[in-house]
Amino acid sequence: MTHPYPPEPFRIKVVESIRLISPAERESALKEAGYNLFSMKAEDIFIDLLTDSGTGAMSSEQWAAIMRGDESYAGARSFHRLKAAVEDIFGFKFFVPTHQGRAAENILSACLVKPGMYVPSNMHFDTTDANIRARGGRPTNLVIEEAFNINNPHLFKGNMDIAKLRAFIQKVGAEKIPFGMVTVTNNAGGGQPVSMENLKAVAAVYRENQIPFFIDSARYAENAYFIKLREKGYENKSVIDIAREMYALADGMTMSAKKDAIVNIGGLLCVNDEALFQNVKNELILREGFPTYGGLAGRDLEAMAVGLYEGLDEAYLAYRLSQTAYLAARLNDAGIPTIQPAGGHAVYLDAASVLPHIPQSEFPGQALCVELYREGAIRGVEIGSVMFAYPDPDSGKMIFPKLELLRLAIPRRTYTQSHMDYVADCAARIKSRASSVRGYKFTYAPELLRHFTARFEPLYRTAF
Ligand SMILES: Cc1ncc(COP(=O)(O)O)c(C=O)c1O
Repeated sequence: MTHPYPPEPFRIKVVESIRLISPAERESALKEAGYNLFSMKAEDIFIDLLTDSGTGAMSSEQWAAIMRGDESYAGARSFHRLKAAVEDIFGFKFFVPTHQGRAAENILSACLVKPGMYVPSNMHFDTTDANIRARGGRPTNLVIEEAFNINNPHLFKGNMDIAKLRAFIQKVGAEKIPFGMVTVTNNAGGGQPVSMENLKAVAAVYRENQIPFFIDSARYAENAYFIKLREKGYENKSVIDIAREMYALADGMTMSAKKDAIVNIGGLLCVNDEALFQNVKNELILREGFPTYGGLAGRDLEAMAVGLYEGLDEAYLAYRLSQTAYLAARLNDAGIPTIQPAGGHAVYLDAASVLPHIPQSEFPGQALCVELYREGAIRGVEIGSVMFAYPDPDSGKMIFPKLELLRLAIPRRTYTQSHMDYVADCAARIKSRASSVRGYKFTYAPELLRHFTARFEPLYRTAF
């Protein structure tokens, strides 16, 4: 019988100690951080599930590659090794490295977005959303409705709603859309995959309307593996071939390499259009560095070149996706609803249903996040009204997101199954005292990307 949750396909060569501080120390750490877990000292965290971005464990092969880093300013061997990997997997004509995903988004937005323009996607992640807004653009999310139903077991909940996309293009006009996107997997909507069938349909609609198609590719390998597991006709294809088929549909991509390329820093911006590439290079030189290093050291380019392939390894991906599924199953057994089916890189707890007495204006996702730290020094991140409530640019009315979630993102190759058991046990204890948990209010919030630096205060009245 195959094991339902395959054991880690690696053994541990280097360890890093973590320690659990006392409940009293946790309480004062919370107060000092303004109840924002981004503001905490990492040493006060026991299990850090804030993000899967840049937090993975590099392999012995990647560390060996680091020693090969060529630190020449221009034309380094390390750049050419990365170029070979990028061309082999993604196949675009041109690319630049960037220091991370948002730098690629910034450069693309600087080159193409003008005030009043729209950029559709299934769902933009927060940095993409903010980079488009920072140029006066309007990011627009057109994911299928099933994505908003936590319990709907749709296998590709990251899919774009093709009818909505067509209607949207007709409404605003293709000339007001400098490029269209799809995020794989859909991080803001639960780490849910996009099917090949849907990618093909999206590409066809963009092509018909002469809108360049960019894929936000942070979790390209997890998406490709979901296609292999779940989409008819792909069960016998290799994950790398599935990835190649995905990218043959697009005109370019932005990528945070800190996820599926399993590096601590790095990103990519790839394009097929030569004129756009010239502009990209000029922006890159202004903001990041020369086009053969793009704000990274040669050694970082080496680690990325190796990691791009390791992320596609099927034994690794089988373990990776089942670790997330295991944590979700344990939480569900404790009566805590999570987005179904489990996403690739993270488990998303439905804070609105765990804390039904806290209204969106009092941040139930943030409240659950604080509570998990209080209970077990575990760090997750709110994906709800703190991150995504924005005043409508036309009416000024506050628009709240449809979901209030607590995301527990699992760093790659970093924590074991017993760490996941600990997390599930702590969450179960919160569930049993949920009605006593209070909401929060801002004491400080910047205009954009406010979840990173906001400060909060607990509300002393209960909001029943
Ligand atoms: C889907 C997606 N796009 C873009 C980004 C931005 O990448 P980075 O954090 O490397 O700037 C992230 C990660 O945070 C992401 O999850």
